[in-house]
Amino acid sequence: MSGGRTVSALLARRADLSPTVEQVRLPDPGPGEVRVRIRAAGVCHSDLSMINGTLAPSFPLALGHEAAGVVTDVGPGTDRVSGGEHVVLNWSPACRTCWHCAAGRPWFCDTAGRPSSARGATADGAALHVTLGLGALAEEVVVPQHAVIPVPAELPFDQAALLGCAVLTGVGAVRNTARVAAGESVVVIGLGGVGLSAVLAARDAGAEQILAVDVTESKHALAIAAGATDFLVSDGGLVRSIRARTDGRGVDHAFECVGRATTIETAWRSVRRGGGVIVVGMGARDDVISLSALDVFHSGRVLRSSVYGAADPDRDVPALARDVLAGDLDVTPLITHRISLAETPAALDRLARGEGARSVVSFPG
Ligand code: APR
Ligand code: ZN
Repeated sequence: MSGGRTVSALLARRADLSPTVEQVRLPDPGPGEVRVRIRAAGVCHSDLSMINGTLAPSFPLALGHEAAGVVTDVGPGTDRVSGGEHVVLNWSPACRTCWHCAAGRPWFCDTAGRPSSARGATADGAALHVTLGLGALAEEVVVPQHAVIPVPAELPFDQAALLGCAVLTGVGAVRNTARVAAGESVVVIGLGGVGLSAVLAARDAGAEQILAVDVTESKHALAIAAGATDFLVSDGGLVRSIRARTDGRGVDHAFECVGRATTIETAWRSVRRGGGVIVVGMGARDDVISLSALDVFHSGRVLRSSVYGAADPDRDVPALARDVLAGDLDVTPLITHRISLAETPAALDRLARGEGARSVVSFPG
């Protein structure tokens, strides 16, 4: 590859749990592309899903897809941003022309959301692939201009980064998919960055009961800090505990933020007749849920997923940035670890163990 720049990136050579920081070569921005100097990047469960067998991306793979930074170079014909602008990366840039985009649902865009795409090369010359079109756990990325969203320069980079995945996904599930209303009851199962964002949004929506669930007590304080009214440990008595807090009925909405069949089934049983289960977690192809045909009929419940928060990132990321800057949405409880790029393998291990919420990498300016 002629031209381009060499940068450090978190690279997975294969689908095992041992990615390492390596030098990779990224091209110069081509027509309609931009180079972004990354200033902050979160470590998300979907990065883990790239290397633990849940998804099937191509390797070698630069990990990372939740990040914010500064545009440093733009390719020919780029009209969306210019050098120096602060941006959040969007891992599902919409084409705006396919059937789904035309129908107003860009989160289903035919062209977006592939686990990996080819970009640049490794130091030893192999074709490099980047996670979700980004590969953002890196000093720099080169991406299509539609994969960046300008945000105000006052927004701190670490908070801006989270808007691009965890916050957009968790908040969007509450606001756009479930449309939680004041006075309603919700349960959020799985309290990582995504689940805690759903808790934040449920509180903001005025939900009266926000039951937050995880596997160990270690998430209790985080849940309460994000606005949960109750914390419950996920065990055999969970559904009974949830019903006991809702006059035996079950909650209005359950948000499954884990990505497993068993937790989807638990969410289903936690919801009242006519209520809704929102699957936010991204599970594996062979993990199959089982529901009784009679129960599906009798319960009147709705089971639906929320892909990327059913959000239009071009509209919703700037709106979230305004909420954060106005003090209406405090995303800082999501950040439990501030780390360097070299510490990202340990952050992935923490995610695998269900410890903490977001680890955010800071890069020097
Ligand atoms: N019951 C309750 N909580 C559980 C269970 C369970 N059976 N199993 C795991 N969890 C919890 C973990 O302990 C962890 O706190 O779910 C949480 C998941 O959080 P993270 O690993 O930090 O994941 P996050 O990045 O928030 O993403 C959640 O959304 O976008 C998708 O791919 C992503 O499927 C993932 C999900
Ligand atoms: Zn993510």
